[in-house]
Amino acid sequence: MNILAFETSCDETSVAIVRDGRELLANEVLSQNDLHALYGGVVPEIASRSHLEAIAPLTAKALSGVPGGIDAVAATAAPGLIGALLVGLNFAKGYAMAKNLPLIPVHHIRGHIAAIYLAEPEIKPPFLAAIVSGGNTQFIEVLDYTDMRVAGGTRDDAAGEAFDKGARLLGLGYPGGAALSRLAEPGDDAKYRFPVADIEGAPFDTSFSGVKTALRNLVHHAKQLYGDDWAESLDLPSVAASYQKAIISALSGKLCAAADALGYDTVVLAGGVAANRRLCTELRSKLGNRIHIPPVFLCGDNAAMIASQAFYEFLKGARAPLSQNAYATFDVAIPLCQS
Ligand code: KG4
Repeated sequence: MNILAFETSCDETSVAIVRDGRELLANEVLSQNDLHALYGGVVPEIASRSHLEAIAPLTAKALSGVPGGIDAVAATAAPGLIGALLVGLNFAKGYAMAKNLPLIPVHHIRGHIAAIYLAEPEIKPPFLAAIVSGGNTQFIEVLDYTDMRVAGGTRDDAAGEAFDKGARLLGLGYPGGAALSRLAEPGDDAKYRFPVADIEGAPFDTSFSGVKTALRNLVHHAKQLYGDDWAESLDLPSVAASYQKAIISALSGKLCAAADALGYDTVVLAGGVAANRRLCTELRSKLGNRIHIPPVFLCGDNAAMIASQAFYEFLKGARAPLSQNAYATFDVAIPLCQS
């Protein structure tokens, strides 16, 4: 079964075709990073308009390389920027209506989890998944392909957001996660102290607002003392390394504790922050062959993961009416449409 899927929840326009949830036939991804870099973050209206321009040409490109027909259409319907989601979902509806195909709405986080199905043909639930991206940080028990339970996650900022805001404070541009981790490479990660949050009564929850505030205070203090020369007063690679270490310690500490306490032999990492090599190395050293990480191109936002998850939602009976709406927030454990 070939599923054509659309992902437009934030600042990547992506169109993909996947066979039977596991075989990637096409995956077109257009990043809007350059458009938003000017503003230091995603501008929702620019994101929506850019999806609108890109989605039809990307669809033509994805379809052109794939022999055989399309059997169903899927789109990310939640969570995300509402105007951005509406572009992909509405395009999917138009395609489904014109070709008389079933429409499958997909939760973005469920899609991130499904990236591992494309990378590892043998893997299947149950497992514990950590979705760590610019907009989300959640630990999810994947009991079955469409049966999820949230085990923990952040109480405030997402881990990727902490990387991006940290990078912005250090003048590294947007999105700065990769730049911050490159700056950190030669640094001493024990030179500066940043807090790692623990939340009473919620051992698998974390928080990244404190570490971000600590960095803001450090930079402001340096600016007050040294004005324009503030950057020279700090050992910036070591600041970045120490900051990164605090984020990674929180993520890996909570994830490993959850895996052990909940009894999972298989743990999956996905989302854009899975591109961080230090995080992957630390999880591999703590979890050994229990940890599974998709390749970087499947970790960032893409429609292939949406098509993969759509296949399993379809098998469970998910069929959306053409009145299906999009939602800025939506619980990952609740089905987006009733079968
Ligand atoms: O999943 P994704 O593509 O989309 C969003 O949910 O936004 O994740 C993007 C996030 C951004 O916050 C970006 O800074 C972060 O992933 N990221 C990284 C690295 N590469 C991307 N964070 C830390 N280290 C990296 N190497």
